[in-house]
Amino acid sequence: MERNETMEEISLQELFFILRKRLWMIILFIVIGIVAAGLVSFYVLKPEYQTFTTLMVGKPKDYQVENKIEYNDLLLNQRLVHTYGVLVQSRDVSDKVIENLGLDMSFDTFSNKVSVNLVKDTEIIKIQVTDNDPVLATDIANETAAVFMDSVKKFMKVENVQVIDEAQVPKNPIKPRPMLNIAIAGVLGLMFGIFLVFLLEYLDNTIKTPKDVEKYLQLSVIGAIPKVKNDKTKLISLIDPKSPITEAFRTLRTNIQFSSIDKVLKTIVITSSTPNEGKSTVAANLAGTIAQGDKKVLLLDCDLRKPKVHKVFGLDNSEGLTNILVGNKTLEDVAYKYGNLENFSIITSGPIPPNPAELIGSKSMKSFLQEAEENFDMIIIDTPPVGVVTDSAVLSTIVDGIIIVASVGQTEVGDITRGKGLLDKVKSNIIGTVLNKVPIGGKSYYKYGYYKYYGYFGEEDNKRGKRRAR
Ligand SMILES: Nc1ncnc2c1ncn2[C@@H]1O[C@H](COP(=O)(O)OP(=O)(O)O)[C@@H](O)[C@H]1O
Ligand SMILES: [Mg+2]
Repeated sequence: MERNETMEEISLQELFFILRKRLWMIILFIVIGIVAAGLVSFYVLKPEYQTFTTLMVGKPKDYQVENKIEYNDLLLNQRLVHTYGVLVQSRDVSDKVIENLGLDMSFDTFSNKVSVNLVKDTEIIKIQVTDNDPVLATDIANETAAVFMDSVKKFMKVENVQVIDEAQVPKNPIKPRPMLNIAIAGVLGLMFGIFLVFLLEYLDNTIKTPKDVEKYLQLSVIGAIPKVKNDKTKLISLIDPKSPITEAFRTLRTNIQFSSIDKVLKTIVITSSTPNEGKSTVAANLAGTIAQGDKKVLLLDCDLRKPKVHKVFGLDNSEGLTNILVGNKTLEDVAYKYGNLENFSIITSGPIPPNPAELIGSKSMKSFLQEAEENFDMIIIDTPPVGVVTDSAVLSTIVDGIIIVASVGQTEVGDITRGKGLLDKVKSNIIGTVLNKVPIGGKSYYKYGYYKYYGYFGEEDNKRGKRRAR
């Protein structure tokens, strides 16, 4: 299925959670921006100082004796100001300043440091000088003013320019402006971080919510198992009856019961599209949870490639299913009991055979399952991933139903759709999907009633809580 075909609107709340999930990434980029801008501002960029002299263009001295300023004179002066502006930056003036100050500088370099500001509609000329050395900047500004005034005398034969302000040695640099740079870099970091988070979310093609399962697989989610710290997952449903994971398995148990009205689901295969999504964990805990009711349950390890059930329960696997299948042991010989749960039996895989697929598809497998069905109310079967080997698809045709485990943020949409396709091909009865490793921490929307709405876990407590509150 193409991604954009199934693109749909995301709510404001989902946007919020997308950002929140990778908030660290956004913060990281803001910090990187700020630190980089700070380092560059303080250690890389050389400070630049700026100073200026202010000159005024007046009338020729002898003219002023009459003390009469006419409008025309003013206009003339303002026009003069423009002429003078060009003169200040002339090669003649510049070269002389360079020479007088004994600078080792080309005309171009010099010109870049000196600029002329004509204050509009006035007779004021500002000579502005920028340099890394504040003292040199001041010297250049003052010397330029002096040389310029000489030039006026030389070329115009008048003395009508006066210095109003001499250049002062600047105390603070005008550049760099660390705070401004840092602020800009921070904002850029923020924008880049947000962009990246959305890009990653877009590229992330994994199953994340029950909505995804419904959308891509047209299957219902019959259980949602929270993600817990690894060492706790194994048997938590039998060890800690009050934990959310146990609650989740109880809900799954109930949903399985109600998922088929006409036919009692007795033998159920647990599979997933790829390894490590939690098939063995789900199978073991589901079987354990069912056994805590009054049903007689068998947990059967049909993963003859990477068997795990014996590890989960800490059992010896030198004898198990494969011994039954090759005909030298019986069910009673190899079945374990778990603790004091009389109605919970476990059969481990037994020695790994060279031909697992053949054994799984064999007649003896079929007849063994028939025998097991006579002895137990429910049989939960752990299998290898359907997307890797055919074992679970083959098994699914001789059992009552199959459950696909999908792991949040791990199971790729493409893999699980393909896996489901393989099961559809052999006409398996897919009961539904169990979402595993559901994050219920503060950073996920699962915390905010998403699952409570779906009623997967914690629902009972929730209702009770509400009632009490009233
Ligand atoms: N709900 C969960 N929360 C945290 N870790 C889990 C959960 N379910 C499974 N795991 C871990 O994921 C890994 C794979 O689980 P497993 O049941 O062996 O997968 P599979 O049988 O599909 O290969 C194991 O390390 C297991 O402890
Ligand atoms: Mg397994």
